[in-house]
Amino acid sequence: MGASGAGKTTCLDVLAKRKNIGVVSGDILVNGHPTGPDFARSTAYAEQMDVHEGTATVREAIRFSAYLRQPFDVPMEEKDAYVEEMIELLELHDFADAIVQNLDPATRKCLTIGVELASKPGLLLFLDEPTSGLDALSARNLIRVLRRLADQGQAILCTVHQPSSLLFESFDRLLLLENGGHTVYFGDIGPDSRVVRDYFARYDAVCPPGANIAEYMLDAIGAGITPRVGHRDWKDIWLDSPEFQVVKQEIRELKRSATSGQTKIIPTCEWLNVFRTNVSNVEQTRRRFSTNSPWSRSEHSLHCGVPLTTFSRDSFCTSAPRCLYLLYSSS
Ligand SMILES: Nc1ncnc2c1ncn2[C@@H]1O[C@H](COP(=O)(O)OP(=O)(O)OP(=O)(O)O)[C@@H](O)[C@H]1O
Ligand SMILES: [Mg+2]
Repeated sequence: MGASGAGKTTCLDVLAKRKNIGVVSGDILVNGHPTGPDFARSTAYAEQMDVHEGTATVREAIRFSAYLRQPFDVPMEEKDAYVEEMIELLELHDFADAIVQNLDPATRKCLTIGVELASKPGLLLFLDEPTSGLDALSARNLIRVLRRLADQGQAILCTVHQPSSLLFESFDRLLLLENGGHTVYFGDIGPDSRVVRDYFARYDAVCPPGANIAEYMLDAIGAGITPRVGHRDWKDIWLDSPEFQVVKQEIRELKRSATSGQTKIIPTCEWLNVFRTNVSNVEQTRRRFSTNSPWSRSEHSLHCGVPLTTFSRDSFCTSAPRCLYLLYSSS
């Protein structure tokens, strides 16, 4: 959490290894191990903007993602069954056959999460401000869905901007950033936000009972319109705090206990996923528009370009989509 411009998206992008400009320093470790080439494969990233193929249905969109991003040796029936599970879990059953361009913002956001979950991210699901732009009730429902996912074992790393008390308490841990990306707090939130309330109260920022702790914290660190509480910068307070020492010790322990990282080779036959899925997708879309307009070259490349972006992040066989383009443009 942090004020606008504090660097939440930047932090998420760096952790997800999506930043390829600027200077990035430090190590990114998973349980003390350096991340391997399969890191992108075991994570999913739901961006703030929900970008979808407007003419697909909700079920088609999630299936498309599952077919492309789950391993080739997983049978289609299993992928379809998994998609139905996701539809249930995200409470999208009433919209499963709805056309994406007709969805309301909250359902669209759930679809974005569904499309990402369809890849079965074993490690982490990144979400950038999923509640921004939603009304209070939709935001609450969305966080409820995320909480349910987390309770079922999905690790979620999510940025939020000024959530309500109820939403805030749904999260387990907080990384609070102030401008410039400096850490103000990193640790548990606790039941009724007790842990984080106590931390701030210890440094004279006592949140009044009944007040929204998320808003109060942002005000207290000077990210709101009111002056900062206390004479010291909150990032310096954090660096001197016992909590920071505990975090450092925990990281040291993790590094010590970690054995050497193992890299997993991505089987080359998996690019067949791209081929098989595109055949069905191109045919599906062609059927929808086949009434009078023949497909142009750019439409072919658009549909073949989707797997290019999906797989180039995995630094994987980028020549496969080019072959597909040739196949379709000659048809
Ligand atoms: N630690 C940092 N080092 C260098 N630049 C940073 C850092 N943190 C943020 N920035 C820069 O600040 C700008 C805003 O950052 P970013 O978009 O990540 O903020 P945000 O918290 O996601 O804001 P919003 O709530 O509006 O989405 C970006 O141009 C980014 O490059
Ligand atoms: Mg942002």
